[in-house]
Amino acid sequence: MEETFFAEQIISWYLKHKRNLPWRSTEDPYTIWLSEIILQQTRVAQGLPYYHKFVTEFPTIQHLADAPADTVLRLWQGLGYYSRARNLHACAKIIVSEYGGIFPGSYQELLQLKGIGAYTAAAIASFAYNETVPVVDGNVYRVLSRVFGIKNDILSSKGQKIFRELAASLVPEGKANVYNQAIMEFGALQCTPAKPACLLCPLSTMCYAFQHGQQKRLPVKLKKTKMKHRFFHYVVVRQGDYLLMKQRMGKDIWTGLYDFYLIEGQKDISIEELTEKNDVLLQLIKQKKVSVEVPNTYKHQLTHQRLQVKFIVFNLQEALPDDISEQMQVKLYSFEDVRKLPKPILIDNFLNEQIF
Ligand code: ADE
Repeated sequence: MEETFFAEQIISWYLKHKRNLPWRSTEDPYTIWLSEIILQQTRVAQGLPYYHKFVTEFPTIQHLADAPADTVLRLWQGLGYYSRARNLHACAKIIVSEYGGIFPGSYQELLQLKGIGAYTAAAIASFAYNETVPVVDGNVYRVLSRVFGIKNDILSSKGQKIFRELAASLVPEGKANVYNQAIMEFGALQCTPAKPACLLCPLSTMCYAFQHGQQKRLPVKLKKTKMKHRFFHYVVVRQGDYLLMKQRMGKDIWTGLYDFYLIEGQKDISIEELTEKNDVLLQLIKQKKVSVEVPNTYKHQLTHQRLQVKFIVFNLQEALPDDISEQMQVKLYSFEDVRKLPKPILIDNFLNEQIF
């Protein structure tokens, strides 16, 4: 592929402005891999001392593979996310035992290794072997979205495909090593998230974001909706072959479906604590000839909600006084009718496992 203006400018900017970093003056896939795993966890300045410690303590992959797990974890201490260190260690052992201590020699083969994803495989393959594959990290998303005016969400699968394809088309044959370092460095130092240095930028004439004043809007990273945790306590009242059920109203989940009298709390509190706060529960417990069961907790996952659900089952020998069922806004249904009512899957599962 002919080198584009883009790649040419990025590389010549890099040769002038690059930081001297130890993993940039080696072609050893092992130390490059170490640096990338550490840099996935922290910034360059904080990562440097860890890199030196690892390379000194474990100069080859054999040293790392042979080390006790505790030694590896102790060196990793302070970086956080310890499963990364465990994966690093496990991967070293596999490379030693199955590959004779030699790193696989291509992007595709590297990808097969446990704990090595697309980014790390591309970084090793391009920096160590100069294979023409693109690295796509946060820096690269930012630079490409701004320069080429790509407005797709970088977290969406369509966005990822578009960025991957564009990134792949830009890597100059025979220069992947320097180009990939360059575009990441360009994102880290020049095309920064908050205050890109556009007035001194060699790409400003071709940059969509600069031309349209869109630097703050690009890249588009739609916030993932936060998972909401909810704690449900269902009060199930059973009288012989009848159950007290309730149709759900309003704008919450499961509108129109049938469930039971529900007490929702902010957190998982005990039934005793719940009873102190809830008059209906208190009155139910005071009923004559009642037995109470609390089956297992159920977990139920919705798109943006995680429910933890407990059922408190009251078996009554006598009919419940009207004032209580009115307070609960429930109605009596025979088992046969209950089967026919539209219900959330969670309630259906509960009934099948515990009642019918
Ligand atoms: N961040 C991730 N990889 C990097 C690299 N090779 N150089 C600088 N910063 C990085």
